[in-house]
Order: sequence, then C-alpha cells, then structure tokens
Amino acid sequence: MEKFVINGGTKLKGSITVGGAKNAAVAIIPATILAKGLCVVENIPNISDVGILFKMLKEMGASVKSINKTTVEIDTTSVNNPFVGYELARHLRASYYFLGALLGRFNRASVSMPGGCHFGVRPIDQHIKGFESLGATVTIDHGMINARTKKTLLGSHIYFDVVSVGATINVMLASVRAKGLTVLENAAKEPHIVDLANFLNSMGADVRGAGTDVIKIHGVDIMHGASYSIIPDQIEAGTFMIAAAASKGNVLIKNVIPKHMESVTNKLESAGAKVTEYDDSIRVECTGPISPTTIKTMPHPGFPTDMQPQMTALLTVAEGTSVITEGVWDNRFRYVDELARMGANVQVDGKVAVITGVKGLKAAPVKATDLRAGAAMLIAALIAKGTTEIEDVFHIERGYEDVVAKFNALGANIKRVEAPKTDIEMPASL
Ligand code: EPU
Repeated sequence: MEKFVINGGTKLKGSITVGGAKNAAVAIIPATILAKGLCVVENIPNISDVGILFKMLKEMGASVKSINKTTVEIDTTSVNNPFVGYELARHLRASYYFLGALLGRFNRASVSMPGGCHFGVRPIDQHIKGFESLGATVTIDHGMINARTKKTLLGSHIYFDVVSVGATINVMLASVRAKGLTVLENAAKEPHIVDLANFLNSMGADVRGAGTDVIKIHGVDIMHGASYSIIPDQIEAGTFMIAAAASKGNVLIKNVIPKHMESVTNKLESAGAKVTEYDDSIRVECTGPISPTTIKTMPHPGFPTDMQPQMTALLTVAEGTSVITEGVWDNRFRYVDELARMGANVQVDGKVAVITGVKGLKAAPVKATDLRAGAAMLIAALIAKGTTEIEDVFHIERGYEDVVAKFNALGANIKRVEAPKTDIEMPASL
C-alpha cells in the first residue's frame, strides 16, 4: 500500500488552485447516460473515484476521451448494457447514480450495491422510495439492485423522510425523463445538487428549484449532449483553508466560490484565523493561537460533515476545549484513535467529540481510515513535530487531486512512497 511520509512543522505559504468538485463530478458523469450525443465536461477532478466511473461508462459501451488534464468528452450514444457489476461498484458510493440515470434512459438498471466510506449504516431506502414512487419495481438480489418499469416512468410527488444528497440526486436523474411533473420535497441543497441540475438543464432537462428544499422536474422526451464546467470543490478548498490556519501559514486558495465556504469561514474565524474573501479566491492567515470552538455538522448550508475530521485535527491544538457534534452520520469519529497516536486528547461519546487542546502533536505512524479522515491525518502530520507516516492513502487519493504536489507547492514536505499499482485505470491524460 502507498504511504505518505510527512516532515511536519512548516508554515504553509503561497497559493494553490482548487480542482473540480468530486461530489458534483460523480453525479454529472453518470448523468451523461441520459442523453444521446456528445458531452464535453470541463474542470473534472483528477481523482481515482472519477477514473472508476469512466471505467464503468466504458464497460457499458460509452466513449470517454481526455481532451486535456481536466476536460473529457463523453459520448454515451452506443450504451446498450444498463449494468454495473460488483468489481467496480464496490469502490465508491456514487456508483449507484447509474441506477437513476440508466432507469431514466432505458427504464431498467442493475447496479451492484455500492461501496464508499464507512460511517455506520448507509441505507438507500429513500432512493428506493423515490424510484418506486416514479413507477419502478425495485428488488435487491445477490447484492444487485435491480430497478425497472414496464412502460415509462411517471412523474410523482416525493417527500424524503431524511435530507439525503444521494437520494435527491438519484431520483432527480431518474425523473428528468419521466412523463409529467415530479416534485421532490425535503430535498438536499448542497452546491453539487445545483451543479447537477444546471448540467441536466444544459442537456435539455427542465429542473427548477435546485438549491432549495423543493425541486420541480418537468419530464422531457429528448435530452442532448452539452458542454459544461463543474464547480470548484468546496471540501478541497475547506481542507486547504484549515491546513493553512493549522500550520500558522498564509495561503491564497484560488478557484473557490466564497459563498459555498461561509460555514467553514465562520468557524475558522472563531478559531482565530483571518479569512479574506475575494471574487473567486480566499486567503487564510493565522499568526496567533487557535481558539476552541463549538460545531455541529448539518446538511447544507450547515457546517459540512465532510469538513468535520479536518476541523477536529485543527482543534486538537486549540487553547481550550472544543465540542464537535456529528449531525449527519452515526459513526464518523473512528479516526480519533489515529489522532490519539499523535498525542491528541479527544473523547468521543456517540455523536459528540470533546477535544481538549494539547500544546502540540507528535509524529507517529497512522492510517487514513477513510477519505476525509485521511485529510485530517495530513493536517495533523503537517503541524506535528517529526516525521509522520500515513498508511492507506488510497482513501485520500479517491477525493483529493494532486494532493502531495499541491501541499508541497505551499512548502510542505510530503513524499509519496510508491507501492504496486492498483487495478484502477485513469483515462490517458487524467
Ligand atoms: N440516509 C437514509 N436513507 C437513505 C439515504 C440516506 O437514511 O436512503 C441517511 C444517511 O444514513 C445519513 C443521511 O441520510 O445519515 C445523509 O446521507 P446522504 O444520503 O446525504 O449521504 P450520501 O449521499 O451517501 C453524500 C456525499 C458524502 C457526504 C454526504 C453528506 C457523495 C458521493 N457523498 O453522501 O461525502 O458526507 O453526502 O453531505 O456525494 C465525502 O465526500 O467524503 C463523503 C462521504
């Protein structure tokens, strides 16, 4: 397995450019299935999750061509096999977006139960409720989720029992070509939901209200190819913002939508950082001590759960006691054992972590237990004294593009120790 070897203690300085949003890309790539014709998608992040989705598209008969490092041409006209098997689906959660997209185009889909990070139980009951409400029959056999409808999908009124990013996206994908009006209530409002709706509309769909909790979708018969540029990654930007503050550095983070960062900006300011917003960039500087703070993660526009581990890493060295409550997932504090190896003092009781700040962290061998936990380990390693080795960095590379190069460009000292190649292929120049 690949490792990162990090010599801590450098103040991060300079500027980096954020890539395209992972959680938008992993919805937009399956969405290309809905249209016959050429889609040109720009600002695609160079991460392994994206590579796997391209592999799935190719296995289904699509053509996927890299135009440059961040632009890909996708033509799904000749897709004729609405099937995604275990071998690829087990790598990431978003593989289940092919269910909605394939159902929308072919009225049938079979996709293996998805993988992804483990934060306790990750049910898909709201996805199934939505598909059934549109008239599909859904069964789960031998680890495959099968959805089909004899005729066409019919628009429907769906109230989600929980706010779910995945269910909102999946049901939106299925309903854009359903007959009539679909109304999604208690929908998720994350920036990537809006980005997907904009992409679908650029392909001829009629989706209104994305970004609010009521989304209205008038089904259309035909969708066409389109050119589209994915929004910047809110979580990558936030990770660099926190790393800049933790290292007592001064970093300009470019290609950012500051509005998407408000909840993170606010908490970094309470922790003592100076955050300056520009039109499409943010500067984070921190010279004084880190102050303790209180955070509860919530669906957008609340503080994102995907920034919770990185914030915990920062607060391990605050001057006082902080409390973080996880409001989205049942079990997202598994990584604190790894922080404890570096001298952090974090007590977890269910969904609440109490972080008593220590004077400093000390290098230790640690593991990335999942994607954002891995980002937290990176931040901890950057501020720790000595040389930290992080194992299982494939989790980090699922969602952060060129992460070693980007941190090293800011003065960090990170080496990636190579290990045998995985079976995951990225398209030629991605
Ligand atoms: N839930 C249900 N039933 C469902 C679906 C979800 O009860 O049918 C519950 C979940 O158990 C959870 C809550 O609803 O308690 C929210 O889950 P959601 O469906 O919103 O999460 P997701 O779509 O599986 C996406 C991101 C995650 C991010 C969450 C929350 C993608 C591919 N993944 O997951 O991102 O944590 O939304 O914002 O978009 C990451 O990028 O590191 C990551 C894990």
